[in-house]
Parts: sequence; C-alpha cells; structure tokens
Amino acid sequence: MADTTHSDLFDLSGKYALVTGGTRGIGMMIARGLLQAGARVIISSRKAEACAEAQRLLSEFGDVQAIPADLSRHDECQRLAALVKAGSERLDILVNNAGAMWREPLETFPAEAWDAVLDLNLKSPFWLVQALLPALRGAGTDDDPARIINIGSIAAVHVAEAPNYSYASSKAALHQLTRVLARELGPQHITVNAVAPGVFPSQMMAATIDAIGDTIAAKAPLRRLGRDDDMAGVAVFLASRAGSYLTGTIIPVDGGTATTASGT
Ligand SMILES: NC(=O)c1ccc[n+]([C@@H]2O[C@H](COP(=O)([O-])OP(=O)(O)OC[C@H]3O[C@@H](n4cnc5c(N)ncnc54)[C@H](OP(=O)(O)O)[C@@H]3O)[C@@H](O)[C@H]2O)c1
Repeated sequence: MADTTHSDLFDLSGKYALVTGGTRGIGMMIARGLLQAGARVIISSRKAEACAEAQRLLSEFGDVQAIPADLSRHDECQRLAALVKAGSERLDILVNNAGAMWREPLETFPAEAWDAVLDLNLKSPFWLVQALLPALRGAGTDDDPARIINIGSIAAVHVAEAPNYSYASSKAALHQLTRVLARELGPQHITVNAVAPGVFPSQMMAATIDAIGDTIAAKAPLRRLGRDDDMAGVAVFLASRAGSYLTGTIIPVDGGTATTASGT
C-alpha cells in the first residue's frame, strides 16, 4: 500500500498557485485555503488598492503576492502570465475565479452585457491557460499533475429565477471548456476541473442574499448558504494529491440545491 498519510494527501507545500479575483469573495476563500495548505499564492484583480489590502489580510496564512490586472483584456492576461512566469518557471495550480454578473430584463439587456461577461468569465480563463501552458507543463508529472480549477456556477446547472442571460451562458460554456481542455491536457499531466458554487456570501451576491438569502438557504437540502471552508476545502482537494485522479469534472458545491432540484 502507498505510504500516504492524511496530512500529505492535502499538503500543498512547495506548490506555486495563481488565483484570479483572489482579492475578495470566493477567490479569497480559495487563496486562504491554498495558503493554509502550504502553497505560495499569487492573487490578482483589477484594483491595486484591493490587491494590497487582500495581500495584507492573507499574509497571516502564508506567502502571498498580489498583481493587479484587468483580465477582461487579452493583453492584460498575457502581462499577468508573463509576471507569474518571471517569478517561477513552474506553475502548479491555476484557479480561474475572477468573474462578473450582469442582471437586467430581456427587453433591455444590452450588447455590452454580453461582451463584458464573456470576456472575463469565458475568454480570460482560456487566455490564461494558453499563456501559462509552458509553466503548467513544467510543473505536472504523471504522479502529480498540474491543476487548472475553473470557477463555474450552478447557474449553468439549473435555471436561476432572476435573469442572467450572459452570465449563465458564460458559465455553461466554461463548464464545457473545462471538459474540452481536460481531454487535451490530461496526457500532458495537467488536470482541468470546474467547481460550480451555489450561493456564497460575496460582493457579487450581496444584494441577492439580502433579498432572498434565507429563502435560498431554507430550500437547500443542507439548509444553509455556502461558507468559506466549503470553497477552501474543494479547492485544496482538487489541488492536492487527493484530487490527482480527477479531470473534466464539474463539482457542484451548493448544499444540494441544483443537483436535487425537483421538476415541479
Ligand atoms: N458568490 C457566489 O455565490 C457565486 C456563485 C456561483 C459562482 N460564483 C463565481 O465565483 C467567482 C467569484 O465570485 P464572487 O462571488 O467572489 O464575486 P466578487 O465578490 O464580485 O469577486 C470578484 C473578484 O473578481 C475580480 N474581478 C472582477 N472583474 C475583474 C477583471 N475585469 N479583471 C480581474 N479581476 C476582476 C474582483 O476584483 P476587482 O473588482 O478589484 O477587479 C474580485 O476579486 C466568479 O467567477 C463567480 O461567477 C460565485
């Protein structure tokens, strides 16, 4: 039997990770989890001040750097990737988390709401994978592949009540892109999985949680909203030895809401 103790199964010591949108919300939950498991983490988001403040908060958990970049732009994804590669030739873990939502009724839903959401939620994960491939290939081995973790959404698994046309579509496309890349990159020792969160407290979900958070929690089989550890835990699992034989999966982390939805 392989000599794997419980602690090494989830240990990320010596690993180098990039978490986009790691300055708050779900990205910060994931960055904290990876740091506590021993990884060195770079976080990124648009605002320099938010980057500096998040770096300050997260530094109590480990070695964290922050690099501002607007990832809705192709050139900015390439610039961030170049800076990440300048810090290390190997990248073990790429978490494509930065995302945006645009809610507006069908009649007035503007063209910009498609461009802005698809650029960030769908194209930027692809651009980052493309630019960081040499570093991911450099990190992955047969025994311990490099990891790409895309943050999708249960909005792509079931149909949310509030209109979010471009958001739900972008996340469904990201789930499929996850499977497409998993097939291609598996033989190159890189796993590609997606996490589909339910409702977690964050700036993006603040208004929804204020308005109907209690109802959402009451309808979930586990009767609550997501917590920081739920997101940290699934990310550490996917990034560690424990998750090294999964690829092309979409993991719903939603207390059972989408996966047990009744048809009535
Ligand atoms: N919270 C939930 O319940 C939930 C549920 C399902 C899926 N998700 C997904 O989880 C991910 C994180 O969501 P969240 O709820 O944590 O949202 P959030 O609180 O709004 O955080 C979004 C993060 O992305 C960054 N960001 C936004 N636009 C960016 C851009 N153009 N370039 C680079 N960074 C950008 C933000 O920082 P700056 O503003 O400084 O750029 C921030 O760090 C998203 O992909 C979201 O779709 C969330």
